[in-house]
Order: sequence, then structure tokens, then C-alpha cells
Amino acid sequence: MASAPILFIISFVLLVSIDLRAQAEYSNTITTGSLLSPSAGNHLWCSPSGFFAFGFYPQGDGFAIGVILVTRPENVVVWTANRDDPPVSSDAKLELTKAGLLLVTMRGEKKIISINTDEISSQASSAAMLDGGNFILLNESSHVVWQSFDYPTDTILGGQNLTSTSDYPDRLVSSKSRSDHSSGRFLLIMQGDGNLVSYPSNITTMAETAYWSLGTFGNDAWLGLNQTGYLFVQNRSGMRKQIALSNGSYPGKNEVILYRVPMDDDGIFRLYSHHMVSNTSSIVWESLQNQCEVKGFCGLNSYCQEVIISSSNISDCFCYPGFSFINPSIKFFGCYQTFIDEDTCKYNEDDPNKKSRINITPLENTLWYDSPYKVVNKEEEACKMLCKEDCNCWAVMYENSSCQIYNVPIRYGIRSYHISKTSFFKVVSKNIGNKNNASHSILDDNLIVERNKKTILVLALSLGFIACLCFVFALLSFIFYKHRYHRYKKLLENSNLGLAEDFSLQSFSYKELERATDDFKEEIGRGTFGAVYKGVLAERNRTIAVKRLEKVVEEGVREFRAEITTIGRTHHRNLVQLLGVCIEGSTKLLVYEFMSNGSLADHLFKAVSPPTWRERVRFVFDVARGIFYLHEECGVHIIHCNLTPQNILLDDTWTAKISDFGLARLLMPNQMKTSAGVHERSTSIGYFAPEWQKNAPISVKADIYSFGVVLLEIICCRRNIQLNVSTQEEIILSNWVYTCFKNGDLDKLVEDDEIDFFTLERMIKVGLWCIQDNPSLRPSMKNVILMLEGTMGIPVPPSPELLVLP
Ligand SMILES: *[C@@H]1O[C@H](CO)[C@@H](O)[C@H](O)[C@H]1NC(C)=O
Ligand SMILES: *[C@@H]1O[C@H](CO)[C@@H](O)[C@H](O)[C@H]1NC(C)=O
Ligand SMILES: *[C@@H]1O[C@H](CO)[C@@H](O)[C@H](O)[C@H]1NC(C)=O
Ligand SMILES: *[C@@H]1O[C@H](CO)[C@@H](O)[C@H](O)[C@H]1NC(C)=O
Ligand SMILES: *[C@@H]1O[C@H](CO)[C@@H](O)[C@H](O)[C@H]1NC(C)=O
Ligand SMILES: *[C@@H]1O[C@H](CO)[C@@H](O)[C@H](O)[C@H]1NC(C)=O
Ligand SMILES: *[C@@H]1O[C@H](CO)[C@@H](O)[C@H](O)[C@H]1NC(C)=O
Ligand SMILES: *[C@@H]1O[C@H](CO)[C@@H](O)[C@H](O)[C@H]1NC(C)=O
Ligand SMILES: *[C@@H]1O[C@H](CO)[C@@H](O)[C@H](O)[C@H]1NC(C)=O
Ligand SMILES: *[C@@H]1O[C@H](CO)[C@@H](O)[C@H](O)[C@H]1NC(C)=O
Repeated sequence: MASAPILFIISFVLLVSIDLRAQAEYSNTITTGSLLSPSAGNHLWCSPSGFFAFGFYPQGDGFAIGVILVTRPENVVVWTANRDDPPVSSDAKLELTKAGLLLVTMRGEKKIISINTDEISSQASSAAMLDGGNFILLNESSHVVWQSFDYPTDTILGGQNLTSTSDYPDRLVSSKSRSDHSSGRFLLIMQGDGNLVSYPSNITTMAETAYWSLGTFGNDAWLGLNQTGYLFVQNRSGMRKQIALSNGSYPGKNEVILYRVPMDDDGIFRLYSHHMVSNTSSIVWESLQNQCEVKGFCGLNSYCQEVIISSSNISDCFCYPGFSFINPSIKFFGCYQTFIDEDTCKYNEDDPNKKSRINITPLENTLWYDSPYKVVNKEEEACKMLCKEDCNCWAVMYENSSCQIYNVPIRYGIRSYHISKTSFFKVVSKNIGNKNNASHSILDDNLIVERNKKTILVLALSLGFIACLCFVFALLSFIFYKHRYHRYKKLLENSNLGLAEDFSLQSFSYKELERATDDFKEEIGRGTFGAVYKGVLAERNRTIAVKRLEKVVEEGVREFRAEITTIGRTHHRNLVQLLGVCIEGSTKLLVYEFMSNGSLADHLFKAVSPPTWRERVRFVFDVARGIFYLHEECGVHIIHCNLTPQNILLDDTWTAKISDFGLARLLMPNQMKTSAGVHERSTSIGYFAPEWQKNAPISVKADIYSFGVVLLEIICCRRNIQLNVSTQEEIILSNWVYTCFKNGDLDKLVEDDEIDFFTLERMIKVGLWCIQDNPSLRPSMKNVILMLEGTMGIPVPPSPELLVLP
């Protein structure tokens, strides 16, 4: 019996030292036709040593598929297939087929879970779970055609690499929690510049939000972990930087030690060692000791602090004064302001007791890593006063007469006794029952102190409602961002085997497109750039829209290709995907995915039954997210220049997707101006920002203006200019909206029983900010989304320049 562990070690050492590329015999091979199913009892394929296993493991109320490290006291999941898919039920089956691993669920859905872009033609003939934790598929000549090591999720194992390429730097994405292995809140990226960096995963600007980095540099760098616990980054020049080195101490002679480096769900990445014979494990190294240094560990408007609970230090999240948890049991969702912001400024104007209701509450030893909108040099009292009088000021960070002023939300806060900065929060206590009773104002932040129980009930209900909204939006944006950061993986997994199209643009010949569109028979639209035809790619059974570019600059094929490639690289749920291109002589055709439900304009202005209130809100968010991606998230920042409801299209699930982006630069120099000016006056009037007419430079803020107009149109479900209205003042929508807003008559704008007044007011305020004449007053798309979600307070918008009919 004693020889068993030794046998393990020998086979382990032998197996891990085999180069995967070499043709080799693998023991325990799994042949095509083999099946796994949780209900049939055989739910795992084990490695020869038994330390690793591939197959179904319990997740939520079902099962997920992945690689687990079989250890005590509990198994550790080191890899998960399609981690963001919902768990499958126990009657799902996994079969090794020639096309790869085929998952068949009870409802008959089929999905290949091992897809390798480079090896489309290679067919799998066997598979093996190796002792190092790599699950591989082999073709008939024993070449590895797919391996789990190439698609790390949150962990790398001994012998595995994280490489950097400029297109898609390899990354580890933490799991949601120890028991839920779908994508979580933190990233570890081996960047193209050679640096290894940790970020929160739903970020918008990279550099500012990094909370840990190794400081390495150089091209083609990779993060490696070898089988004896040596963790390092090496760049092309062969220089290594050691991150950690296990001393490899063996408690016993027959011990086998396995290493793994996960990005843990708390945002810290760690090197663990597992002693497989003595069943112990330990942390060899961790990237941070202080949990509070992990940005995004706590949500918006909350800070992280170490507290001592039964003599151990635990990091926890707390709300700032005047804020409450959106969901007290999931603190990282963040906090919301417990009073409604614009009250402050209104009270300032017409309430004699105004100022006493505004309290400036200090919080010592606090700082946050966010940028202030204003910094002034003032003494403490003057600084507090300044904040009290500024409607946008909600918090101040103060140190040595430097007064830094912030709006909400506040991100990445820390509180610790080493911090010498003090912060101040503006807290408004509301005096609802008796407006003239000033003594209430001394009360602190919490409304709960109010006497009047009925008001409390009403307030609690409405606050609960706001909280619900915030929660839902936070959840949605969480899911949404998560989804985005995994689009690459998703694309890999979701597309069928002919998936090259999703990565590089396909070139079509004119003949092919002529055939696909049946000689350009069915014209489905005509826009600024030319006519659009419907077609079908017969061999892939895919419906497409072919756009013939007519008014574009005659530039070199190469420049044109470069522009088009940029467009092709954008992948976003709210953008119409460019699939391919055809360039033959001066003929230029673009092939897009087909949007079966037509344009938003038709749906809003021509449909028999207009969209419901909920649908309208969803459209606004869809469009906002699409533009946000174009402006701030895709590699090359794209200004759309021509956003109108005509070029927002609806797919078969009624998701709004923006089209025609990236094309503005292809137009002849004056074309855009013309369409902004005279040319398309009839349909596009009002969407163009005033700077087009003024010959002022065009920035992303021009799109914000168009977005504002489109937002108001969606919400009110009518065109910006409409003549068949009951009164003269309703003709121009933006003027009418402002009038209603000023008079507090927002209900005149929307006829729908379901409308939710808070959302309506937010939408209208955001819309009015977006259509300000002065581009610098218009908010960025990021802030637009934060304001729409209700995460960021919205100041009262000034009047936009009133439009007059030409
Ligand atoms: C197996 O894959 C290798 C590398 O991709 C290829 O050269 C070889 O021809 C394949 N063998 C078979 C039988 O398909
Ligand atoms: C890791 O990357 C290095 C350099 O690219 C390579 O030599 C090595 O074979 C890779 N190891 C694995 C397991 O892919
Ligand atoms: C590679 O890394 C080493 C040390 O980390 C550094 O000195 C060297 O300049 C890097 N090489 C390149 C090409 O950046
Ligand atoms: C891992 O790296 C360390 C340090 O370079 C080296 O001593 C050790 O032999 C390596 N182990 C293996 C299995 O390559
Ligand atoms: C470790 O766990 C295995 C499996 O349960 C068990 O057989 C073995 O005795 C354990 N070893 C020790 C040292 O507890
Ligand atoms: C090796 O490291 C472990 C912790 O990782 C430590 O407990 C042990 O004392 C170290 N042994 C030696 C010889 O340094
Ligand atoms: C808790 O943290 C404090 C300060 O960071 C430190 O002095 C103390 O030793 C820690 N206590 C424990 C139990 O880790
Ligand atoms: C504030 O003043 C203290 C000493 O008076 C000094 O140590 C600290 O660096 C100053 N901080 C700033 C931000 O100037
Ligand atoms: C104002 O409120 C206080 C309690 O906070 C109460 O004692 C007092 O009678 C009130 N004054 C008036 C004029 O209502
Ligand atoms: C990041 O996620 C949190 C919820 O965890 C959400 O409140 C916040 O708005 C997100 N940030 C961005 C920029 O989307």
C-alpha cells in the first residue's frame, strides 16, 4: 500500500514534464462517444493521479462544467466552461464528439463548449485530463487541438501561462464568490505593455482605477507559474521578474505539492500550495495584505474600513453620512443618498430656515481615489460654507487648506487611522410635517427620526422604491458590464464553427453579394450614405443587410480598409455588427447583421401601438450604452456625428442598436456639414448640435446633443418637430419639454398609465442637460448613464437655447 503514493508521484512527475506539443501517448484517454452526465453517476473524468477531474460539478441549483482540483477539506474549481451561462440541470449530457465537447441539455439545446479558432478543421478523436490540471482534446495524430489552459478563467496552474497580445491581453477574471464561478468584480490583466495589473472589472478608465501592479514592462510579456511554485513575469528580452517562489518545504517525503494562482473573489490574487498527501494547503504569497486597497471592494458612496471582530481584522464597507445601503446584505452594491438632492438648492432660495437644514457632517481619516470637480484653497470653515452653498457639492476632502469638492457618486473610499485627511458630507434633513419648525434641522441624516409616522411611511415607500430602482439598475449595469468584458470569450463560445467572421472582417466579392441580395432586389432603406438591401447568405443561412456606399470619399483602398476594420472591431450589444465588406473598384459595400424590427423612428412615430413606458426607458438605456461604448470604451474613440432615430435599429428581441457609426469620416469633407445644414433638413433637423452650424470644432459632445434630442423623442414618443399639435408652443419638442419642466407639468408630456414619475423626471433632466447650447455644459456619456441610473444626482438644468422654426 505504501507504494501507492510513490506511484502517484512518479506518474505525476512523468506526466507533467511531457511537452504538450510532442506527440505522446496519454494514459486515461477518453475516446469520442464517451459521455458524462450528473444523473447517470459518471459525472467526472479523472486525471491518472486523481488530483484533477473534468466534468460536472454542483453550482447553484444545477451543475456547471469545469476542471476541479480534488482536495480536502473541499474541492477547488480551477476552470469553468462558459462560466456565465446558467447552470444546467442534472439530466444534461456531455459527449466527446469529433467537433469537440458537445453539451446537450434537457431542453434539447446543443452547444460545443470547446471551440478553438485556429483549429477549425482539426477534428477531435480523443481527450485527456492531465495530471497538471490541463484538459486537452487530441486529433487522430495526437496533436492537441484544444486545451483548457488556453482559456483561463480565474486561475492559472503550474505550467500555465498568461500571455499578452495587443488585441486581447490575457486576463483572469475573479469569480463572483467562492461558490459561484461566473465572472466577478475584479480583473488581473497581463497588459500589452508588459505590466501585470489588477482593476475592478466594470471600469471605464483604466489607469486611474488600477489598484495593484507589478511594474514590469516590455513586449510579449507573459506571466508564468512553474510546477514547483515559481511565479514570474518574463518579457521578450528574456528578463524575468520574480513575483513569488515557494520554498517547496515538504512535510513528508512522499508529498506531492500542487500550486495554483487564482484571482480571488475579493480582488487579491494569491499563490496557493496544496499538499495533496497530507491534505493541507497554504497561501504562499498574496498581492495585497490590506483588503481595503482593492478598489471596488466597496460600492459607490461607501468606504472600506478594517474592523476588529473577535480579535481578527476584517475589512468591511460602510456608507458615508447621509447615505444608506442599497442592499444591506450585499454591501458592494453601494449606498444611495437618503434625501432627494435638489431640495437643498430649492430651500436655499425660498425657505427662511434653509441653511439650518443643511448639515455638514465630518468624517475623519477618510480619503477616496476619485477626482474632484473643483479644488480651492480655503480654511476649513470657509470650505464648509462653500460646499453648503454649492448645489453640486455633496462631499469635501480636506487637508491643510486644500478644499477638494466632489459631487456624488463617490468611489473607492478608505478609512483608516493612518489617513490624515478629513472629509465633510452635506446632509440635508427634511422637514416635511412643519416647514417652519427649524429645530428639526439639527437632526442628523436619518429621516427615521421624523415624528410624523405617515410621512415616514410615504417616505419609506418612495425611498424603498428608489432603492429598488438603484438596485435593479446597479444589477443591470453589473450584468451588462460583466457581459461586455466577456464578449470576446462569449464570441468564441457562442458562434458556430464557421466563426472567423467575428474576428476579422470577411471580404465578399461583388458577385456573392449580388447573389445574396438577389441582384439588389429588396431595398429596405436609404440613408445619408446610400441604399440598403436585404439579403441572405445561403451557405450560412444568415440574413444580412447590404449597404452600398455612395457618397464616400475616393480614398485609397488601404485607408478605407483601415477605417472599416476599426468599425468591424466594435462589438457591443447596442451596436449593429459589421460582418464584412466588398471593395471592387469604386464599388464599396458593407455587410451588416440584419435588424428584423426596422428603425426606432418607425416604431416611435409610425407604429399603431406606440412603445410602452418601460420599453421607452429600455430604448434610452440601450442607446446610451451604445454611445458610451463608442465614446469611451472601444479602442478607437468614435464620434457618431449623425445619431437619429432613423439609424437606431431594432433586432428581433427589440433591443435598440445603433448603426452607421464610424462612417462619418468616410464622407466627403463637406457632406456632413451639408446634411447638418441644408441637405437633409426635413428629416434630421434638430438632431445636430449648434456647433455644426457655427463651424466650431466637433467633439463627442455633438453626439450628446443628438442623444438628448433622441432621448426626449423616445420618452415623449413624438418627433422633435411636429405640426399637428394642439397648441403653438408644443410644436418644438425641446422647447415644450422645458416649459413643462419649469412649470412642473411633466405629466403633460407622456400619456401612459405605467409611467414612473421619478424616472421620467430624471430622463427629462438628463435630456435638457444634453441639449445645452454650450458643449461644455453637456454631460459626458458616462455621467449620462450614472444620472439615468439614479446613481448620480442631477442638478436642475438651465434653459436650453430655444429653437425657432426656420
Ligand atoms: C492533427 O493536427 C495537426 C496540427 O494541427 C495537423 O498537422 C494534423 O494533420 C492533424 N491530424 C489529423 C489526422 O487531422
Ligand atoms: C508559456 O509561454 C512560453 C513563452 O511564450 C512558452 O515557451 C511555454 O511553452 C508556454 N507554456 C505553456 C504551457 O503554454
Ligand atoms: C524586460 O524586463 C526587464 C526587467 O524587468 C527590463 O530591464 C527590460 O528593459 C525589459 N525589456 C524590454 C524590451 O522592455
Ligand atoms: C521552477 O523555477 C524554479 C526557479 O527558476 C526552478 O528552480 C525550478 O526547477 C523550476 N521547476 C520546474 C519544474 O521547472
Ligand atoms: C488525505 O485525504 C485522503 C482522502 O480522504 C485520505 O485517504 C488520507 O488519509 C488523508 N491524509 C491525511 C494525512 O490525513
Ligand atoms: C517555507 O514556507 C512556509 C510557508 O509558506 C513556512 O511555514 C516554512 O517555514 C518555510 N520553510 C523554510 C525552510 O523556509
Ligand atoms: C489589525 O490591524 C492593526 C492595524 O492595521 C494591527 O496593528 C493589528 O496587529 C491587526 N490585528 C490582527 C489580529 O491582525
Ligand atoms: C499637511 O501638513 C502636514 C504637516 O503640517 C504635512 O506633513 C503634510 O504633508 C501636508 N499635506 C499636504 C497634502 O500638503
Ligand atoms: C418643533 O419641533 C419640536 C420637536 O423637534 C417641538 O418640540 C416643537 O414644539 C416644534 N415647534 C413648533 C412651533 O411646532
Ligand atoms: C460598477 O458596478 C457597481 C455595482 O457593483 C455599479 O453600482 C456601478 O455603477 C458600476 N460602475 C460602472 C461605471 O458601471
